[in-house]
Amino acid sequence: MFQILSKTELAQGTVVANEIMAPKIAAKARPGQFVILRVNETGERIPLTMADTDPKRGTITIIYQVVGKTTALLKSLNVMDYIQDIAGPLGRPTPIEKKGTIICVGGGTGVAVLHPITRGFKQAGNKVIGIIGARTKDLLIMEDKMRAATDELYVCTDDGSYGHAGFVTDVLREQLTKLGSEVKEAVTIGPVPMMKFCAKVTAEFGVPTMVSLNAIMVDGTGMCGCCRVSVGGKTEFACVDGPEFDGHKVDFEELGRRLTAYQKQEKEAMDLYQHKCSCAANQ
Ligand SMILES: Cc1cc2nc3c(=O)[nH]c(=O)nc-3n(C[C@H](O)[C@H](O)[C@H](O)COP(=O)(O)OP(=O)(O)OC[C@H]3O[C@@H](n4cnc5c(N)ncnc54)[C@H](O)[C@@H]3O)c2cc1C
Ligand code: FES
Repeated sequence: MFQILSKTELAQGTVVANEIMAPKIAAKARPGQFVILRVNETGERIPLTMADTDPKRGTITIIYQVVGKTTALLKSLNVMDYIQDIAGPLGRPTPIEKKGTIICVGGGTGVAVLHPITRGFKQAGNKVIGIIGARTKDLLIMEDKMRAATDELYVCTDDGSYGHAGFVTDVLREQLTKLGSEVKEAVTIGPVPMMKFCAKVTAEFGVPTMVSLNAIMVDGTGMCGCCRVSVGGKTEFACVDGPEFDGHKVDFEELGRRLTAYQKQEKEAMDLYQHKCSCAANQ
């Protein structure tokens, strides 16, 4: 059992950060790795990236968007409550080395996944340019942390309520045009369409690009095959071969299709959960 030490709502109650006591995982975790957790004994297993770790305190931090039953259940837990089990660290750590100038692009809760990677590139001595975006100002997360982890940070909102009005791809194109061959790598993490279009832009400039794939996962150890993705025409398992891959080779259409394969069951599970919650509240 893993105790929750803190709970912070980062955006309109829909994005939550939990610091959790997990000393063995915190001691081994590297940027880019994730955990798979079950909220309770009968719960499903869901993967969440470690947005931060503190090996001295023995804690890991997860940041998640409430999108369905399990994330809603997780949000219902309070400080001092316990999560049934957490397996990790899982996945390959991000290969971080000194290369020159790196552009890190994040959208939505992808910014939480991007942050430890961005910080790692900066600590390795790179010049790091950050570009983060959200649909609207109230949904933007971790601006301060990303500012501290970068040399320059550009903020975008789709509706123009804060920062640059428009998509992260606009600013990415501007920076690539301005900096040219100075940029050695791009990292882009967020919704599938955002990663796909960022990778299209960087391909025009010939800049190697890493994306982090949020494929549906079950065991997280390469045994069930649920998380398979196509990269350069080859089948890879996101849990053990990734979650990061060459963005210029990923079949994003297939990933998008596989992510929506269980929408009917997910909606039914959420409806039932909300019904049970409202019945309990009325008793
Ligand atoms: C390696 C990895 C790291 C991730 N890190 C984060 C993170 O740091 N923060 C965050 O908010 N989200 C993260 N996700 C996505 C997160 O796992 C899903 O949002 C979560 O599983 C949704 O569960 P639910 O029951 O609340 O929603 P549901 O209603 O069950 O599903 C909503 C959508 O979430 C996706 N999903 C559902 N079940 C799974 C599953 N078992 N594995 C993967 N995706 C699933 C599907 O696209 C689905 O349509 C990550 C996914 C992966 C693969
Ligand atoms: S989650 Fe089962 S093989 Fe990757």
